[in-house]
Amino acid sequence: YFLGIDLGTSAVKCILVDEAGQVKSSASAEYPLLQPFPGWAEQNPEDWWHGSIACIKDLLQKSAVSGNEIIGVGLSGQMHGSVFLDEHLNVIRPALLWCDQRTASQCEWIEATIGVEKLGKLTGNKALTGFTAPKIVWLKDQEPENYAKVAHIMLPKDYVRLKLTGTFGMDVADASGTLLLDVANRRWSNEVVSQLGIPMEWLPPLFESNDVVGGLLDEASQLTGLTVGTPVVAGGGDQACGAVGVGVVKKGIASVALGTSGVVFVHDDSYQVDDQFRLHSFCHGVPDKWHRMGVMLSAGGSLQWWKNHFGYEELEKAAAEGRDVYEYLTELAATAPLGSEGLLFLPYLTGERTPYPDPKARGGFIGLNLRHSKAHLTRAVLEGITFGLRDSLELMKQSSVSISELRVSGGGARSLFWRQMIADIFGYPVVTVNSTDGPAYGAAVMAASGVLKQDIASLCEKWIQVEERILPNEENQLKYEEYYSIYRNLYPILKDSFH
Ligand code: XUL
Repeated sequence: YFLGIDLGTSAVKCILVDEAGQVKSSASAEYPLLQPFPGWAEQNPEDWWHGSIACIKDLLQKSAVSGNEIIGVGLSGQMHGSVFLDEHLNVIRPALLWCDQRTASQCEWIEATIGVEKLGKLTGNKALTGFTAPKIVWLKDQEPENYAKVAHIMLPKDYVRLKLTGTFGMDVADASGTLLLDVANRRWSNEVVSQLGIPMEWLPPLFESNDVVGGLLDEASQLTGLTVGTPVVAGGGDQACGAVGVGVVKKGIASVALGTSGVVFVHDDSYQVDDQFRLHSFCHGVPDKWHRMGVMLSAGGSLQWWKNHFGYEELEKAAAEGRDVYEYLTELAATAPLGSEGLLFLPYLTGERTPYPDPKARGGFIGLNLRHSKAHLTRAVLEGITFGLRDSLELMKQSSVSISELRVSGGGARSLFWRQMIADIFGYPVVTVNSTDGPAYGAAVMAASGVLKQDIASLCEKWIQVEERILPNEENQLKYEEYYSIYRNLYPILKDSFH
């Protein structure tokens, strides 16, 4: 078996995949998210490690698989988070996460110091609050006593791999989200690292996602039940792993991942950048391939917010009937007409990244009238999220990328109603595949690739099959075009009213 571990923001998920690509079982363990001030989001790396131990033990026990039947481990994880370790490998302070928004002034400083154009040339990206480099600069500015202790910096899953194997390493896919990587050449950017005053020795050695970084330590073996020496590959950030997990490893295939964040992702055979660096240009988890993506910070997060505050009746019904509350909400949304009778929702509840890199952006319902009911508002939330994701696709289309299908994954992909809406708003066939374990599955593919010495694309070809293909409904497509053109005008008009 191959063990795929996905270190998420609310929980770690572990799955076992056999040599034919079938998922044998899965387990998960939760950990807390710390939000000490508005806009801050932190987690304790030790919680990730303890969660991973509990999750692996639980998985082995419930599947009655012994450690020596697992021949490779791969890690996926939430991206961009900053793990700060001292020279004894102790955690200095909680990690700042991908969704933390405190670093706006550090981003300004980075762009002023290096220059937006030059930073884009060197890294392929803009300085965004979620990225790692601004978090390091924040530590220097705000907690100099902690900064003075730093000896190692890494991303969340790299800390868990360090605990498993005792080796330092980071894959180029996840490293792309640090803003310190020369993405085109798949190596650290000496120029950016030195201009930001970061000692190069703080950064780990780089790998491709399917490279074996180390073998399992004795101590980790005792804690988890895995066997000493089991090879652990570098793995990747959750977006690269999620894309591999649904087979987005070839030109022409794009994906939409609907988790808390929402991501539109396209595979590139060569390094490509958007002229204004609005899309993220990152290394893919496939050696010598790249990808671009647009990231919406609150996609599923907006729907979850709606459910938490306004979905009591649906929650009650779901609890009574043992069904998923989101099924009730999407059924309710489907009772309102397309376009929600002119009601539009802006999904910027936690600021935004793509296409508007604006931590101050905020959400809203625009166009309410007396006829609007909860069904309209619920549908508007789904439509607003999907319009916002279409903005990222529009940026991709500007570079004349030809897309033949969109593979959808994540919690939001469970709803047929939403899948059809995506097909109608995006105007592309929407495909679902047999692998539904997302990033954890991609991490297992990377482990299999490293251990079996087979390339990732051929494993995906063998293991991942298309299950359903939904075509856009032309009539709906035309109607949505009109609403989308109104949606697109809203942020530019409203942006100065957000603070
Ligand atoms: C991607 C990103 C999010 C997190 C979520 O750039 O920030 O997808 O990785 O876990």
